[in-house]
Amino acid sequence: MTHETVNPYQADPVDYLSRIASLFADYKQRALAFLQCTEGEHLVDVGCGAGDDLLYLASSSPFPLRLTGVDPERTSLAAARKRAEGLGGEITFLEGSFAGLPLESDVADVIRCDRVFQHLTDPMAALAEMMRVVKPGGRVVVVDVDWGSLVLDHPSPALTDRILSYICTSHVNGRAGRQLVGLFHQAGLQQVEAYSDSVCVTDWPVAVMIWALQDAVDRMVAEDRLSSHQASDWWLEAETHAEQSLFSGAMTGFVVRGCKQDGSPG
Ligand SMILES: C[S@@+](CC[C@H](N)C(=O)[O-])C[C@H]1O[C@@H](n2cnc3c(N)ncnc32)[C@H](O)[C@@H]1O
Repeated sequence: MTHETVNPYQADPVDYLSRIASLFADYKQRALAFLQCTEGEHLVDVGCGAGDDLLYLASSSPFPLRLTGVDPERTSLAAARKRAEGLGGEITFLEGSFAGLPLESDVADVIRCDRVFQHLTDPMAALAEMMRVVKPGGRVVVVDVDWGSLVLDHPSPALTDRILSYICTSHVNGRAGRQLVGLFHQAGLQQVEAYSDSVCVTDWPVAVMIWALQDAVDRMVAEDRLSSHQASDWWLEAETHAEQSLFSGAMTGFVVRGCKQDGSPG
């Protein structure tokens, strides 16, 4: 059996990211408020994707901010630049990645990223790069989900747990969320504060889309971790469960803020 990718992010990253931003606007807005931006500050958003967060800030901030988005994906950057046209304010999108941010040292008042650490093999190096770019005394904020916290109500819980465990471990850094606070302390960030936020989904097709469930189950079948018969039974049960309004699922994210030591004596 050939395996065709049905991962909604890979199929259309710009559409996927915008749908998430709109579905989970509350979680996004709380995380942006936690940046505690003040007038005229320079904010850098690493892994900005299609720019949803910076565009939201540009259109909703009561005072001007200098906004810089960085992402390695040209398609997402092109969409971000197009969407920023006519918005006014100072907003720039740069191609780059944590391998070496295209910014001088000590230039940002606040640097952040949302749902990027889950993709990183070396999150400590990424945090060090954020700390290089932020000014002494500036804030570093990292937001990420923890794929180990994903729960789905389903009539076959044991098989569902196997699928969820596969989803978590098939991410490069699927437990990123729970590790952020420790990472901030190890990196020497000061005044570390954190909160967790959860999203609840009661619509099965939305759950399938945002958590790429079809892609995960297809890959398990392709890798002989699941028979096609088990997979089709699991889908059928899930759909019947949802049709009876019995489905819900949730996932937790972590939002962590720390300050780079300002190096001033005393
Ligand atoms: C799940 S998306 C989140 C996008 C955006 N932060 C948002 O909340 O809409 C992850 C983003 O991280 C970017 N990314 C992946 N690896 C990266 C890296 N090593 N450095 C910087 N960005 C990276 C991807 O191109 C993608 O746009």
